[in-house]
Amino acid sequence: LASAPPIQLAEMYFRLHPEEVDPVWGNPCDDARHKKIWSKTKNCESLPKFLVIGPQKTGTTALYTFLSMHNSIASNIASPDTFEEVQFFNGNNYYRGLDWYMDFFPADTLPNTSSPLPTALGSPRYMFEKSATYFDGEAVPKRAHALLPHAKIVTILISPAKRAYSWYQHQRAHGDIIANNYSFYQVITASDSAPRALKDLRNRCLNPGKYAQHLEHWLAYYPAQQLHIIDGEQLRLNPIEVMNELQRFLKIQPLLDYSNHLRYDVKKGFYCQAVSEKRNKCLGKSKGRQYPSMDERSGKLLQRYYLNHNTALVKLLKKLGSRPIPQWLKDDLSTGT
Ligand code: A3P
Repeated sequence: LASAPPIQLAEMYFRLHPEEVDPVWGNPCDDARHKKIWSKTKNCESLPKFLVIGPQKTGTTALYTFLSMHNSIASNIASPDTFEEVQFFNGNNYYRGLDWYMDFFPADTLPNTSSPLPTALGSPRYMFEKSATYFDGEAVPKRAHALLPHAKIVTILISPAKRAYSWYQHQRAHGDIIANNYSFYQVITASDSAPRALKDLRNRCLNPGKYAQHLEHWLAYYPAQQLHIIDGEQLRLNPIEVMNELQRFLKIQPLLDYSNHLRYDVKKGFYCQAVSEKRNKCLGKSKGRQYPSMDERSGKLLQRYYLNHNTALVKLLKKLGSRPIPQWLKDDLSTGT
């Protein structure tokens, strides 16, 4: 009996099973046999218990910041490369493997220094990760579910037209050449014969706002009870109630009363962290940007563009039950003819 060398064997195997070329990482802790042979230094706790999936520009940084104030909650450590989101499930980082991902979640019990609460030393913290592009990433729900089937999924929705405009302004502020060379109207009306870079920008601007479609994709993997939808306008206007509801959904203990820790800042025009009696710590300039309001023509066009998607969202929210229809959704639909 002879066997081919490992590389040849692997090549042969993948020729027979091409569908397995793209890896899908499962959770070693869900299989007793895997767990048994796993290194003693690995810990099943080193994975997030919930994901904030976005989409971009809906208030994800505010939510992330408010969550991080809670002493029983910890986010991933900052990426040494980018100091930004981990973005594991959507891009090439996925191929860096499970160890790479788990290193972002050291199972420590260190006090959360940015938290206003006393530390419950010894109790593991409820870990989470926020990557705002997960929401509309094609491969993300499948990959996330394979690794974290019990995780809770948190998403924030605002008017898709408003989101698209905020995203366009964000791209301009980041020096995107196309966004700086074309008006918002030109971007959202770019035809399929437009230059490729412009079409790409149009798609990245508009596609995440097709909320129902993306949510259905998540719901094909996760049961509805594991999905929490936050109305982003409520997060902006009434974050204390939103944070209370979220803590109840996540079953976080102890419950942090955010009314003692968040305060509306008149100058910023948003809620900020109350760090002392007089001082607030707000998000940076890139969150809550100043820019001219959307032109009427673009507003009308987007209302028509998102009409079917918004109608599908109402249907979906009704199907999911006990989820209120956000006011912005009613407004978008009432004039979208
Ligand atoms: P604008 O800068 O266009 O106003 P994200 O963090 O997902 O990129 O979202 C940014 C958006 O969060 C901002 O968009 C802002 O409107 C919104 N936001 C909600 N609550 C906020 C808060 N407390 N502070 C700052 N921005 C907040």
